[in-house]
Amino acid sequence: MQYRELGRTGWNVSTVSFGAWAIGGSWGQVEDNQSRAALNRAIDLGVNFIDTADVYGDGRSERLVAELRRSRNEEIHIATKAGRRLNPHTSEGYNRENLVAFVERSLKNLQTETIDLLQLHCPPNQVYYRPEVFEVLEDLVTAGKLRYYGVSVKSPEEGLKAMDFPNLQSVQIIFNMFRHRPSELFFAEAKRRKVGILTRVPLASGLLTGKMKPDTRFEADDHRQFNRQGEAFDVGETFSGVEYATGLRAVEELRAICPAGMSLTQFALRWILMFDAVTCAIPGAKRPEQAEENCSAADLPPLSEETMEAVSTIYDASIRQQVHLRW
Ligand SMILES: NC(=O)c1ccc[n+]([C@@H]2O[C@H](COP(=O)([O-])OP(=O)(O)OC[C@H]3O[C@@H](n4cnc5c(N)ncnc54)[C@H](OP(=O)(O)O)[C@@H]3O)[C@@H](O)[C@H]2O)c1
Repeated sequence: MQYRELGRTGWNVSTVSFGAWAIGGSWGQVEDNQSRAALNRAIDLGVNFIDTADVYGDGRSERLVAELRRSRNEEIHIATKAGRRLNPHTSEGYNRENLVAFVERSLKNLQTETIDLLQLHCPPNQVYYRPEVFEVLEDLVTAGKLRYYGVSVKSPEEGLKAMDFPNLQSVQIIFNMFRHRPSELFFAEAKRRKVGILTRVPLASGLLTGKMKPDTRFEADDHRQFNRQGEAFDVGETFSGVEYATGLRAVEELRAICPAGMSLTQFALRWILMFDAVTCAIPGAKRPEQAEENCSAADLPPLSEETMEAVSTIYDASIRQQVHLRW
């Protein structure tokens, strides 16, 4: 495993960390014992940072992660999120009363006195123009309920705006072989300001592993089935916003340029880590073998300049038109 410093927290976090959405819900049937095995395997391999949220399986993910931390001796940093319990999900809902209640609930689920890192969970854009929301987070830090806070954003612009709040430690954003725009302006700014970048959906919801086919079926309660057109939440969170057949075609092009001895999954994750502004990728893993393959990407040698260029060429020709101006 390799490690990079997260913002100004002083934490050195694993470059391949663990995304704990799938072990909570919205990804078809998951067995807690499989999830426990995946989490433990990740920790065995040096992962020390886990991203979860209060809404993943309505607390199921937070509780599994809490159980893991209590059962292990290693230091494990846990980032959770707040805001998506709001229904309707409005900017006004991000007020003191609600945020305090969400934090208290997560503290209970995580069985801790202090949340390591709390992220606002893709809030409506107006929230970034309401300093009073960030004052609540400051007060929660002062009260000892939070160690640090950050945001999870939909677009690089939201990330840039959020960094105006001086104590922000991290921005979580979609960045992968099918989503290049964050690397344009946002990465340089985040690096300059020493704000950590957590790259979510690094495998484009599994598409970039190369295992999917035109006739792959997903369960009814898997967002890759029920959110294909953005019916439940932003379509950009499912397959990174790329239309499925287009994505499959582009994956075949990536397969053709994948360096020898590397799996497509490893290629996708190593590509992300080529950007030094990135703190870590947070791939989801449902099974120990997935955690293993994902972690192995951290120790691979750098990709060549030609390979990086070839990925850009595929993105420009096959993907850019569908995503570049949308997020
Ligand atoms: N708004 C937000 O803040 C937000 C939104 C989305 C995600 N996130 C965070 O980002 C994390 C990562 O994103 P994501 O989970 O949506 O997508 P992802 O990491 O791109 O894809 C994860 C899925 O790909 C499959 N997979 C993973 N490793 C694999 C391997 N080695 N071989 C084959 N298949 C593999 C698994 O599903 P199958 O086995 O079922 O194919 C897994 O659940 C989440 O867990 C969550 O913590 C945050």
